[in-house]
Amino acid sequence: MTAPTASPFIIVAIDGGAASGKSTSSKVLAERFHLLHVDTGSFYRGVTAEFLRLGVSTKDHTAVTAAAHALRFGTKLHDRSAAMEIGGRVIPDTEIRSRIVNENVSHFAAIPEVRTALLAYQRGLADFAREQNFRGVVMEGRDIGSVIFPGADFRFFLHADPLERARRREKEGHHDSITERDRIDSTRKTAPLSCPAGALSIDTTHLTPAQVVETLAAPIAAGFAAR
Ligand code: CDP
Repeated sequence: MTAPTASPFIIVAIDGGAASGKSTSSKVLAERFHLLHVDTGSFYRGVTAEFLRLGVSTKDHTAVTAAAHALRFGTKLHDRSAAMEIGGRVIPDTEIRSRIVNENVSHFAAIPEVRTALLAYQRGLADFAREQNFRGVVMEGRDIGSVIFPGADFRFFLHADPLERARRREKEGHHDSITERDRIDSTRKTAPLSCPAGALSIDTTHLTPAQVVETLAAPIAAGFAAR
């Protein structure tokens, strides 16, 4: 008699710079394959908003470390997406996408203690997804395929021409200096933004959102079919 096979649970890691197409495609993939959608950028943004509220400066390493240790995370499900709670509160989107957060987030995200504070929380969302009966997780960020889930079933790296990315962000109506954030994210010492070895690298400059989705969905569908 053969042992019953566990229902497949997959982890999809999508990394890339600002406005490279991560969020749009991750949300569609989550819907199509019944995966929990996790936008880790929103977590770094939430932590940044909290630090700013507390008056913690990026330059005061001791204060940042103390504030990072004191963070208490929880999770609320918003449709298919994991919304992070800090001290029992989900910080509203308007706040985490504000100009002040845009200007500060990469500076806080470059501090190792801040990244460590979020590491276990992000990995734990795979268990949260299982508890909620999802078939897997699609997690987007800068270090998902390299640090958070290096053994993910699928690892993608999206990139696009900087001018095209600036145009996309402007269309969304956000004031955002994405080149500056990319510069800080790519040159930091801890978990810099880069294409992890073995990940599928996709240039989205001349692709429509639907074409990006199909490029990512094809290997995932094949992976599910093979299990
Ligand atoms: O809005 P956009 O897609 O450009 O960025 P985001 O995904 O919201 O991430 C905001 C910032 O959080 C990034 O510029 C990084 O500094 C930081 N971040 C990170 O360091 N590691 C991650 N896994 C995700 C975001």
